[in-house]
Amino acid sequence: MRQKVIAGNWKMHKTISEGLKLVEQLQTKLAKNPPTQTRIIICPPFTSLTAIRDALQDRNIELGAQNIAWEEEGAYTGEISAKMVKSAGARYTIIGHSERRTYFKEDASTINKKIKVALKNKLKVIHCIGESLEEREQNLTKEIIVNQLEWDLKDLDSADLKNIIIAYEPVWAIGTGKTATPEQAQEVHQFIREILDAIFKDGIGKKMTVLYGGSVKPINAKDLLAQPDLDGALVGGACLKANDFLQIIQASEKSE
Ligand code: PGA
Repeated sequence: MRQKVIAGNWKMHKTISEGLKLVEQLQTKLAKNPPTQTRIIICPPFTSLTAIRDALQDRNIELGAQNIAWEEEGAYTGEISAKMVKSAGARYTIIGHSERRTYFKEDASTINKKIKVALKNKLKVIHCIGESLEEREQNLTKEIIVNQLEWDLKDLDSADLKNIIIAYEPVWAIGTGKTATPEQAQEVHQFIREILDAIFKDGIGKKMTVLYGGSVKPINAKDLLAQPDLDGALVGGACLKANDFLQIIQASEKSE
């Protein structure tokens, strides 16, 4: 059985006090409805990690960072290392999010270095991949997925992959309100497992947790999560409201 995961990516939202309030609301709601099969990961901004770590009482919730530096330490003004986020309470880090690829020009080589640094420091990775609208329209989705898996995960082996969660996030669906249909998502998720098998062997494709991300909301979560190759969701906008996030967690709990 693969682990079900609902992860919340807060992006650049919430001050420390706002974040604490959200976590308190979430914990109160979860205490009444404790999840039995879903791991919850929240990824607040760096500045809130320690405060949220200290406030977390619910063992079902784990902390993640949204990014880390590609180097372990050094003269990199403004950067934050894997070791630092770990010492602040993060157990996971998102790497390769499309917003980092687009706005911060992160390419496969940077992403590959970040993944290696994360694993070296015993941080688990939520590795985001996905095609743009243009690429989908040109029928390049599968090619992009193969490239991202091949180059972002270069030099890794099937043992490393046990500490990686893949998040398929079609760029055209992120923050746009447009979601992939359950069938579109399922098709790519199945393909991701095939490619992981082809690259890393050991039947790893079927064992990995693969999340869908891109405008996941309470209204569409149930149908998406019902797909056999979707193990959960990486949620942006809808994780900023405790009620919406909880409903997505509940949809995961009800999925087979
Ligand atoms: P969204 O973001 O749910 O707001 O589309 C998802 C993500 O970027 O991870």
